[in-house]
Formats: sequence, C-alpha cells, structure tokens
Amino acid sequence: MPLTGRWTLTRYLIEERRRYPQASGALNALLLDVSLACKAIARIVARGALATNAAAPQAGALNVQGEVQKPLDLLSNDIFLRMNEWNGHLAGMASEEMDEPRPIPEAYPRGRYLLLFDPLDGSSNIDVNVSVGSIFSVLRAPAELTDGSRELRGADFLQAGATQVAAGYALYGPSTMLVLSVGNGVAGFTLDPELGEFVLTHPAIQVPEETQEFAINTSNARFWEPPVKRYVDECLAGRTGPRGKDFNMRWIASMVAEAHRILMRGGVFLYPRDTKDPAKPGRLRLLYEANPVGFLMEQAGGRASTGRQPVLGVLPSALHQRIGLVFGSASEVARIERYHHEPPPGDSDAPLFAPRSLFRD
Ligand code: AHG
Ligand code: MN
Ligand code: MN
Repeated sequence: MPLTGRWTLTRYLIEERRRYPQASGALNALLLDVSLACKAIARIVARGALATNAAAPQAGALNVQGEVQKPLDLLSNDIFLRMNEWNGHLAGMASEEMDEPRPIPEAYPRGRYLLLFDPLDGSSNIDVNVSVGSIFSVLRAPAELTDGSRELRGADFLQAGATQVAAGYALYGPSTMLVLSVGNGVAGFTLDPELGEFVLTHPAIQVPEETQEFAINTSNARFWEPPVKRYVDECLAGRTGPRGKDFNMRWIASMVAEAHRILMRGGVFLYPRDTKDPAKPGRLRLLYEANPVGFLMEQAGGRASTGRQPVLGVLPSALHQRIGLVFGSASEVARIERYHHEPPPGDSDAPLFAPRSLFRD
C-alpha cells in the first residue's frame, strides 16, 4: 500500500498543532517519543518467547500492586523510561511497575509535562500469545517543577482525568495500532512494519451508541454489588428479559484490547468495585488505566464511569489508586450509573420505584 494520500502520525500531530498557533511542538515531540517506545515494545512482543533472554531484567518480583512482574513488564517499563527521560519535555514519569515516581535525571532539562503509563497491560496474556498493549496519560506539570524550584512528588500526578492533555494506547495484536487523543477526537494509526511508521487508518473514531455486547469477568459474580448483578442479569435474560434483546459477551483480560474492540464496534466493559478484597476498591488503576481509557471514550462519544460518577471527575488520592471502571457505549454506561443511584427493583422501602410504579421506566 503506497503511503501517498495517507497521513503519518507525525503529519496528524502537526496538523492538530496548527490549530494552536502558539503551541511549541513539545507535546508532539513527546508523543512521537512515546510512539517510538511503543514501536520498540511491539518488536519485542512480536518475538514472543524468542525475546525473553538473559538480557531481560530479572522478573518474578512483586510490583507495588502485589502482582508478579514478568520480564516483559520490566523491559517495557525500561523502554518507556529511556525513550522519554532525555527529551526535555517531561518533568517526571510514573508507572504501574514503579512504586515511586521517576524524576528526570539531572543530566537532562525538565519540561512541562508529566507522563503516566502502564507499559504492558494484560501481561498475564503474554505467555499465551494473546493481545497486550501499552497505555499512557499526559498531564501538565506544576510550574515550580518545570523551572527546577522543587523536586518531583507523587502528589504532582494527582490530577483529575479531565485535565489530561493527551492519552492513548498501543495495541500489540495481529497488527500494531496506536490510538490517541490530543483533545480533539480520537484517531487510530496502524503500524506499517516496512516503513516503521504509524499511518492514520482510523480517523475520527466514534463509539457506536447502541450495543448488544458486554465484557465482565463473571468469576467475580459473587462479589458484585447489586446494581452490577442487576445489569448483567438483565443482559443474560436476553430477548425475553427487560432489555428485550440478546447480548453477546467477550472477556480478553487485556483492558487495552477490550477498549479497542469497544472503540471499533461498541460494547460496554465493566471491572466494577466489588467486595472481593475490601483493601482494593476495584481492580484497575485510576491514573494510568482508567483515566486514559476514560479520556479516549469521552473523546469518541462514549462514556467512562466509576459506576457512580464520571471517571474523569475523580480527584485522585494516591498514585496507584484502584477504582471501579465501566466504559463504552454511552447509553449502557448511563444505565449502569442509573442502577447504582436508584433503589434496586422490588425494594419495598422505596414504593415510588417499585417495579410497577409509575416512576419506573
Ligand atoms: P495488568 O496486566 O497491567 O496487571 O492489567 C491487567 C488488567 C486488565 O488489562 C484486565 O482487564 C484485567 O486486569 C483482567 O483481570 P482478570 O485477571 O480479573 O480477568
Ligand atoms: Mn494494566
Ligand atoms: Mn501492566
């Protein structure tokens, strides 16, 4: 396929920047370095078991989440750090794989942005050759950090998702894709392996409004809260149930792949808050999983919620904070949020909302 007539990622970013004549180009340069990190990870992932050799950092340790770190988790983390620490556009980085945020080394200038990432999401899928991804979020750095008047703190990253400047993911599937938003819709790029370039193949991605597909790990059903159980029961009831239509279910166990499917053909994803472990209010991490995927969903006309409120409105309290996450087609997310706010059907204490009341739709 000739490149003529197609836009590269570089061109897309430059065309976007032209809408802001005062923009310096720093964000574009940062995103190109992030995309280079993703290309490097794509090569390693594609080599599968051939890639994990003695050169890979030692794994087997637990990360701050108490999860086993795989060799490729650590290698991918290292690639993200190395590709982005030198460019002068960042004042700090934070990752799923590092307990503490990483300051920019003294040898390099500090920039105006902060980068958060999960370098290899779904890494439990690596050993079975199922799609994995990288997911990232870009925030503005406080001015005192950029000008060097103080050192980096974890608190610098505790900004609501609505303030993200850019967010995106790379999906390492049958083809490698980069999907990103700089706040003006969502664009998808496919890696041309011969050119080594991300080429714009999916401009202006929109999440289809209606769906008949949901994604949830049903092995957790006994720990779900009633609104989630109600939602899933209604989907399972199919054509003869309250929804009046049959639903299909998918679970890849790679959130990035799940988000991509939903951006392409609609659907809803739930990893809700549950009662499995009171110390973990949800499975996924707010700052580098829920927020970037939330930004992409909202930019593509979908929605992302904790179940109770929009994800992007949550003020984070800790760098590795976990949160309940529901995202996808807007009408389904709105329905799930509504179920969280209204009394369960048949609740005799709430006669106005009882199943046969005028107040139920
Ligand atoms: P990670 O590999 O970065 O720890 O994240 C995996 C996440 C997410 O990608 C996926 O949706 C979820 O964990 C899968 O959870 P289950 O193992 O409970 O299915
Ligand atoms: Mn992850
Ligand atoms: Mn990960």
